[in-house]
Amino acid sequence: MIPRDTTPIIVANNLRKVFPAPRGAHKAEPIVAVDDVSFELHPDECLAIVGESGSGKTTVARMLVGLETLTGGELAVNGESRAKGVMRLSDRRRWAREVQYVFQDPYSSLNGRQRIVDTISSSVSLHAEGTGRSAGNAKKTAQDILQSVGLGPTFWQKFPHQLSGGQRQRVAIARALAANPSVIVLDEAVAALDVSIQAQILNLLSDIKKHRRVSYLFISHDLAVVNQISDRMIVMENGRVVDAGVTSDILANPVQPYTRALRAAVPRPGWKPVRRERLAS
Ligand SMILES: Nc1ncnc2c1ncn2[C@@H]1O[C@H](COP(=O)(O)OP(=O)(O)OP(=O)(O)O)[C@@H](O)[C@H]1O
Ligand SMILES: [Mg+2]
Repeated sequence: MIPRDTTPIIVANNLRKVFPAPRGAHKAEPIVAVDDVSFELHPDECLAIVGESGSGKTTVARMLVGLETLTGGELAVNGESRAKGVMRLSDRRRWAREVQYVFQDPYSSLNGRQRIVDTISSSVSLHAEGTGRSAGNAKKTAQDILQSVGLGPTFWQKFPHQLSGGQRQRVAIARALAANPSVIVLDEAVAALDVSIQAQILNLLSDIKKHRRVSYLFISHDLAVVNQISDRMIVMENGRVVDAGVTSDILANPVQPYTRALRAAVPRPGWKPVRRERLAS
């Protein structure tokens, strides 16, 4: 679906992020991780961000969820500006409720000593105010959410280490859903999974989108996956957007040399840039 006349959930204008020069390095310069990046994300839409390793995808995502401050530019979520500076806890919580993040490796982001039903019900309780869900029914809500991501009662009392990679990623998605967000950022969320499990998680993400109003910002190296799941895409190189448009158009007929090179390269997570000159030749 390619929405046109909707009010965007996220409006990012000229985002810029500069990290200080690494300490101790001789003649080190500040790192411009994100430079003049603009995009919109509409309701019910899946926008993909692709680009080689180090191109700035995760930094953009971290700015969206408030894990990185903006060096420059403007960011608005649901019409509310996400200004620089210190936020109150209540603002930060509201922000987190609207945009949830699913990482590549859910193992490190899940509490290993907590049963998964408790992880999800904590998230339900944390975000109860504002989602319209009752904190008193948090456990029941958590069970329903786990069920909706394909984890039935046999899983509820398990710990993360007792689950497979695909099941853990389902827990991470359930935890994101517990906040009832407008947007879920999926940062290489299927990259570490076997192809068959990857397909199951992609189906789950499509199912979720059929049943609730949620948009995805889908970061991936894998253009086949991006082609399957996203409506529009932006292509990043060295912190900048070098290509953007409807995914099927861009991938069917890539015009930009960098996008063509990406398509030819079948990149993987952690894939390091091959010199562009070489790719272009
Ligand atoms: N906290 C940080 N401090 C300094 N430099 C950083 C920091 N985070 C990211 N960078 C640098 O910013 C640039 C963009 O990194 P980022 O992680 O956003 O790329 P990416 O596109 O997500 O890469 P990958 O595909 O490998 O995940 C890189 O040069 C990286 O080294
Ligand atoms: Mg990244």
